[in-house]
Amino acid sequence: MRLTINIDHVATIREARGGVEPDPVTAAAICELAGADGIVCHLREDRRHINDRDVRLLRETIKTKLDLEMAATEEIIGIAIETLPELVTLVPEKRQELTTEGGLDVRGNKNYMRDVIEEFHKHDIEVSLFVDPIAEQIGAAHEIGSDMIEIHTGEFANARTENEQRELLEVVRKAAQLGKELGLVVNAGHGLNYANITLFRSIGEIDEVSIGHAVISRAVFVGIERAVQEMRRLVQ
Ligand code: PXP
Repeated sequence: MRLTINIDHVATIREARGGVEPDPVTAAAICELAGADGIVCHLREDRRHINDRDVRLLRETIKTKLDLEMAATEEIIGIAIETLPELVTLVPEKRQELTTEGGLDVRGNKNYMRDVIEEFHKHDIEVSLFVDPIAEQIGAAHEIGSDMIEIHTGEFANARTENEQRELLEVVRKAAQLGKELGLVVNAGHGLNYANITLFRSIGEIDEVSIGHAVISRAVFVGIERAVQEMRRLVQ
């Protein structure tokens, strides 16, 4: 399983004072040195953490892979095409939410999403669709030409009992198996942490996990390098 690190929270701390530190660009470089396979950042419409300057500099400095998480709006699509990340992960975005709350309705927006994917493919940018572990959504992602899916693991991460956690793990496993059967690259993320990753990594069909909150939270106490290295070891 590959590990990509979402560095949005570093920018969130910077924005708490509206200044220049801590810099998510520096964080990205340390994550890469510590063994991350890629860096994820979410350029939100309201620029609440990552901003346009960050995306520009991350593109210039990242040596692994830049995964630009984004809503499929005209403005952000334009920025993504100028930036040329290796990958865009399309997510639904609500202004009031604290974090991404669930997967895309790919099935209900097939025509629009197909056009967006085609546009990215014209620029050699791969596309991943963030979806809940629901067969119809995964089937629709495949049907409209997505290269990858990222399975939303929030429900699994929020399980309150061990039984519930195991049940929800199986839901994700089935979704991942379906993705693989359809020939998609299968990523996963949201709410994965140092505790639940040991169970989660038993899903052999997952190609890559994207983790932010848990790693950046641990980094506050042990430093980013060690936080990434520790997650790296657990993911492997
Ligand atoms: N994947 C997606 C699509 C996300 O929106 C997020 C949160 O920004 C993550 C993964 C990472 O989630 P977490 O910060 O809970 O590890």
